[in-house]
Amino acid sequence: MGKALDGVRILDFTHVQSGPTCTQLLAWFGADVIKVERAGAGDITREQLRDIPDADSLYFTMLNHNKRSVTIDTKNPEGKLVLEALIQKCDVLVENFAPGALDRMGFTWERIQELNPKMIVASVKGFGPGPYEDCKVYENVAQCVGGAASTTGFDEGPPVVTGAQIGDSGTGLHLALGIVTALYQRTMTGRGQKVLAAMQDGVLNLCRVKLRDQQRLERTGVMKEYPQYPNGTFGEAVPRAGNASGGGQPGWILKCKGWEHDPNAYIYFITQAPVWVKICNVIGREEWATDPEYATAAARLPRLKDIFAEIERWTTTKTKFEAMEILNKYDIPCGPILSMKEIAEDDSLRKTGTIVEVDHPVRGKYLTVGNPIKLSDSPTEVTRSPLLGEHTDEVMAELGYSREQIEALRTVGAI
Ligand code: COA
Repeated sequence: MGKALDGVRILDFTHVQSGPTCTQLLAWFGADVIKVERAGAGDITREQLRDIPDADSLYFTMLNHNKRSVTIDTKNPEGKLVLEALIQKCDVLVENFAPGALDRMGFTWERIQELNPKMIVASVKGFGPGPYEDCKVYENVAQCVGGAASTTGFDEGPPVVTGAQIGDSGTGLHLALGIVTALYQRTMTGRGQKVLAAMQDGVLNLCRVKLRDQQRLERTGVMKEYPQYPNGTFGEAVPRAGNASGGGQPGWILKCKGWEHDPNAYIYFITQAPVWVKICNVIGREEWATDPEYATAAARLPRLKDIFAEIERWTTTKTKFEAMEILNKYDIPCGPILSMKEIAEDDSLRKTGTIVEVDHPVRGKYLTVGNPIKLSDSPTEVTRSPLLGEHTDEVMAELGYSREQIEALRTVGAI
């Protein structure tokens, strides 16, 4: 069976996490992704957080599946010529260097256009145009400048970053969508274009509901579904809301049986209005269904803390899975707090290909997250990440270089 992006060639100039996430997705959809790395060194993540000496780290392997690796020194004049040949052959160049690095290498937008007017040049940068456009940015910086950190954590504590890599992998996802959209537009215009996904913008897009709340706060001075209401005070900016739900249905994380010794014995519980009567019955507070102080969503808002404390009295008598089973019977939305260990061992995630076991010639078997986007006509088979320069000769031959020319370029350190 063919793949959705069969025939699309990606010149992958990405490193670390944000760019590689993007090109890995494109590879999973069938694009031929040719990762360009520096000989002898490669993507810095190959050696970061290593768990096995001399083997590519999980950091690298889990972000670079289904790609080919070629080594080119793009600062060497002969290496530059090889890169030019690749630019002429590929459809998309993806990069996430520090601002200006591609220009310094001599590959400005104008030069790339001269070489291949159909080329799409896609970039991740920390910031879009403006005062910070020249700054280098990593994940947690993006979370801080995109509004995530100031709105995450508890009111009485400092800002907190989340474990979800919304700055890196989140921006990689945004960039991937930009690339396929530009490829689609190119089918009509015949022209390439620049695609920019700034990490600050990507994080802010994912924090959209907090900008919504900022404006609600400015208009009304209060947000009744936040834990600060009714006893705390609201300042000028959206406060941290602990584990309150970001939507219109109040929710909180509650202890379950075993919480004293298991740090993940908790459940997220949503007091969705349409199932309020069922919630009252399950926790044994049937009278709340008709009591005017509890019967409506508006009446419950100033009492949320007490209501959740009462529900928790019930959840602490059940394990998180027992609670989930009971609550699901009544259509009450909830979710157990799953540890990474539980997720890694989850059979259903393995069956769908979301958790995949991959074999690697140096490091052996390891687990990875497969393609979270499932296409019925373009299934994903996850193959291992390439060794450094594993495909240099193969790709050079495809570009028309003879064996002798390849050896000569190797001798001068161009590849
Ligand atoms: N041959 C020769 N030189 C190469 C090369 C190759 N194959 N590949 C990269 N280089 C050079 C670049 O040209 C650059 O050189 P220059 O600084 O002399 O112009 C240099 O390697 C390093 O690039 P840089 O991107 O500055 O790496 P860094 O390790 O200093 O910074 C980041 C890392 C992530 C902070 C930075 O790349 C960045 O801000 N990227 C954009 C935002 C981003 O994606 N952040 C998230 C990362 S997960």
